Amino acid sequence: PRPIFLTRHGESLYNVRGRIGGDTAISEAGELYAKKLANFVEKRLKNEKAASIWTSTLQRTILTASPIAGFPKIQWRALDEINSGVCDGMTYEEIKKNMPEEYESRKKDKLRYRYPRGESYLDVIQRLEPVIIELERQRAPVVVVSHQAVLRALYAYFADRPLKEVPHIETPLHTIIEIQMGVTGVQEKRYKLM
Ligand code: F6P
Repeated sequence: PRPIFLTRHGESLYNVRGRIGGDTAISEAGELYAKKLANFVEKRLKNEKAASIWTSTLQRTILTASPIAGFPKIQWRALDEINSGVCDGMTYEEIKKNMPEEYESRKKDKLRYRYPRGESYLDVIQRLEPVIIELERQRAPVVVVSHQAVLRALYAYFADRPLKEVPHIETPLHTIIEIQMGVTGVQEKRYKLM
């Protein structure tokens, strides 16, 4: 069986400030995670010559994958974080205060809520389709370094979780989720690296 490893990028400068979206670099803690992730991947996949590392096109995932040596890296725009449109760069507090209606509608239906000039979780799920097809086609392990909303959607697909749960799945930073698809179903392991 061929494993898929899912991880968020290391802590970003916006994560530190509680701001959503953006395209910031990673913090010192994020850089430490990047090193630990590289260590983990190089050890686990040392006999997997055909393995590959997939990132989004945003700096924080590319920087997180950069210390990993020995495997090809592929950037997918479809792995970019949910587009938060006019709310990009804001904190949840700022959205609540300055755009209370938007805040409330998202709270009411986080799955279907679409940020003005941005995306909804349903939009993200839809744009991930080609990534999922390609992931299922792979014979070798893949490490996916992406973002919270995107990883919720990917995880839900492989772990067969209902749509309505997607926006609420726990996806902590600095944790690798390993998914093994065998004949008997899906097995999952989590590695909290820091
Ligand atoms: O805060 C990090 C982040 O990746 C944001 O960029 C993104 O908008 C958010 O998480 C998605 O999580 P939620 O749907 O819970 O707001």
